[in-house]
Amino acid sequence: MAKMANGYCDNLLLATYLSADCTVFFAPAMDLDMYTHPTSSNNISTLTSFGNIELPAGTGELASGLVGKGRMCEPEEILSLVNTHFQKTSHLAGKTILVNAGPTFEKLDPVRFIGNYSSGKMGKSIANELAARGANVKLVLGPANADGLNPSVELFRIESAQEMHETCSRLFVDCNAGILSAAVADYRPATKADQKIKKNDTEFSLELVKTIDVLKSLGDSKKDNQVLVGFALETQNEYDNALTKLKKKNLDFIVLNSMNDKGAGFGKDTNKITVIEKNGKSHSFETKPKSEVAIDIVDILETYL
Ligand code: CTP
Repeated sequence: MAKMANGYCDNLLLATYLSADCTVFFAPAMDLDMYTHPTSSNNISTLTSFGNIELPAGTGELASGLVGKGRMCEPEEILSLVNTHFQKTSHLAGKTILVNAGPTFEKLDPVRFIGNYSSGKMGKSIANELAARGANVKLVLGPANADGLNPSVELFRIESAQEMHETCSRLFVDCNAGILSAAVADYRPATKADQKIKKNDTEFSLELVKTIDVLKSLGDSKKDNQVLVGFALETQNEYDNALTKLKKKNLDFIVLNSMNDKGAGFGKDTNKITVIEKNGKSHSFETKPKSEVAIDIVDILETYL
């Protein structure tokens, strides 16, 4: 603290501190007499006057065996104070945001369906990042694993594209924004057999009909103050195809995943994205864990809210 207060820069931590232009928290920890020494109080005052945030020391047993004030703030409390701080400063605090994720399954008969390999991991990471910034998150999740969600995320389970559409349309009306990452099936079987289809002939043809485009229907109905974000999964002409989708579906920005990128795609824990905004600005990011990709996406969403 003394070094921070006086601008010393003789180790990596202090060099990092001196050049940091972000919020800095500090958690004093020392023996009780040291803690109450006027120099320590002055250092704490100086550090807070610079805009640093004190995580106050607790009272209890100290390393010296004495009992008093000077115990470092407990790690759980540090986490909670830091989270609360950022929730209060986030533009997303109190905003209601719809997220959809996962695949949809389109039933063929009671035991079979048409589906895809989406794991829902990207959408779940986005939901968790929004919740960490204090948003009220409504996650509409297809048939994918729902583990690892922030307990404050409100979960709606659906199976088919039609159910995805009905639930998202109903919820979006009261939302400030929507991020639609689900891999919704584009086609479903024209009919669903009530009984298991038997194998009779050597060939079997399926008639498929188009499902509703959930994202486009929200884009068509969205109010001026609602922000809508979509995804685009492309294997060729990535940028142009994503831009076309952004315009056609009336989005504010679109997150482009290229299936050509290693480390990106269904089931993976990492992703590589390019975000294209409606004003034509684009941002390309490196391959990173989906939890960090979610931070990049939510950072851009914050600029719209
Ligand atoms: N989407 C949707 N409803 C559908 C199909 C897609 O809401 N029936 C949404 C996806 O959630 C995604 C975006 O539309 O946010 C783009 O999905 P993508 O599969 O890349 O493109 P499609 O519009 O389906 O077009 P195509 O398959 O021809 O590339």
